[in-house]
Amino acid sequence: MPGQKPIKVALLGCGTVGTEVVRLLTDQAPDLTARVGAPVELAGIAVRKPNKHRQVPAELLTTDVDALVESDVDVVVEVVGGIEPARTWLLKALRAGKSVVTANKALLADHSGELFEAADASGADLYFEAAVAGAIPLLRPLRESLAGDRITRVTGIVNGTTNFILSGMDSTGASYAETLEEATRLGYAEADPTADVDGFDAASKAAILASLAFHSRVTAAEVHREGIASVSAADIAAAKGLGRVVKLLAICERVDGSESGEPGAGESISVRVHPAMIPRTHPLAGVSGAFNAVFVEADAAGEMMFYGKGAGGAPTASAVLGDLVAVARNRVVSGRGPRESAYAALPVRPMGQAPTRYHISLDVADRPGVLSQVAAVFAEHDVSIAVVRQEGRVDDAGLVIVTHAATDAALRSTVDKIGGLPVVREVVSVMRVEGEE
Ligand code: NDP
Ligand code: HSE
Repeated sequence: MPGQKPIKVALLGCGTVGTEVVRLLTDQAPDLTARVGAPVELAGIAVRKPNKHRQVPAELLTTDVDALVESDVDVVVEVVGGIEPARTWLLKALRAGKSVVTANKALLADHSGELFEAADASGADLYFEAAVAGAIPLLRPLRESLAGDRITRVTGIVNGTTNFILSGMDSTGASYAETLEEATRLGYAEADPTADVDGFDAASKAAILASLAFHSRVTAAEVHREGIASVSAADIAAAKGLGRVVKLLAICERVDGSESGEPGAGESISVRVHPAMIPRTHPLAGVSGAFNAVFVEADAAGEMMFYGKGAGGAPTASAVLGDLVAVARNRVVSGRGPRESAYAALPVRPMGQAPTRYHISLDVADRPGVLSQVAAVFAEHDVSIAVVRQEGRVDDAGLVIVTHAATDAALRSTVDKIGGLPVVREVVSVMRVEGEE
């Protein structure tokens, strides 16, 4: 290795993640050199406010991002976030043949197509392991290790903030608002938690997961998204009563024509983010607090679970460094990592046509014929009932119904019509059910 030309790295961003990237690059320099086969040299660090106090070499700081990207660096590591100007910087780097490592899920979810095209045109690498589930090795297993298999489903808890809140509601019985306040006080939720609690963050990650798992281009706009703000203490209690727990899930599933029930329908995919009840025995049910986990099902490999820290400076920097080593190794041998694989181009089904199951909890009048009126609405919408449980009270009854799979549109229409029946006093809780049939 003596005399081996160094791999020069431009770091864009030096906040929570970037600071840890610099620390790992510095602390582990001799090991990284040995692993890559050449020294990895930090050529510059782009920030917005150069005078801010930080634990990084001051002489490397710059605000001239374009000049840094255009300099003789081999690799650009982007940990700034947001769409612009990150998109412009990375396109410029890729077009110039510089490899890119990024943790930017928002950018990847909306612009992976043009980024991959730029990378392919110049033969550069584009790696983004940290963009989904932080430290957890997940994207490279999907992109490389499982490239010979047929993935059928990816179900993930990919947002730590919402998992922290839902876990808190489950353990204390407190309301969403109370638990969000606690999560903010403890620093788990940001001052503006919208991107997390409304499911935007998870939807970006779902788009990236679906694109890789199904060899298709899926954007965040194509992901059906529901957040957790409407999850009530009653929903959590209803789940508990049935041995289930409520999680915000990112679900990416392959739907073949026969499953869809539509004659002649070809294969498609459903990509969605919403709260759902899962059995307490499901591997994802035990994932609590701010942890992430992703459950992958594939034809030959069967079921796999990836679990760990989905955020935080050091865990995320670990994934960034893993990518940096990979792209640096490729450059040393003048090779290249995998290109985009979007050949399957599977269409994304609208949510109304996605196969889902519902749990419905009702307060109804307790008198003869009520159950048959409710059941008739299900039959009318061609929705099959899997479980019915009734609890008699003094002058009314609690009715819990869990359905078999039907299209989401049929289930929604069923719930709307049931809510209007005179014998139904209140629709207490409606939640999708996942992880069992
Ligand atoms: P921070 O907000 O902590 O850091 C952003 C950095 O980018 C700061 O150093 C900031 O400079 C710099 N920056 C912002 N705008 C510009 C600009 N116009 N020109 C130059 N520099 C700029 O973000 P994080 O470190 O938390 O996140 C970075 C990326 O990593 C995002 O894409 C995020 O989604 C992703 N990510 C983050 C995780 C986490 O746990 N934090 C987990 C997984 C992914 P300055 O310091 O001067 O303000
Ligand atoms: N805001 C994200 C979360 C972290 O709560 O999981 C980074 O993706």
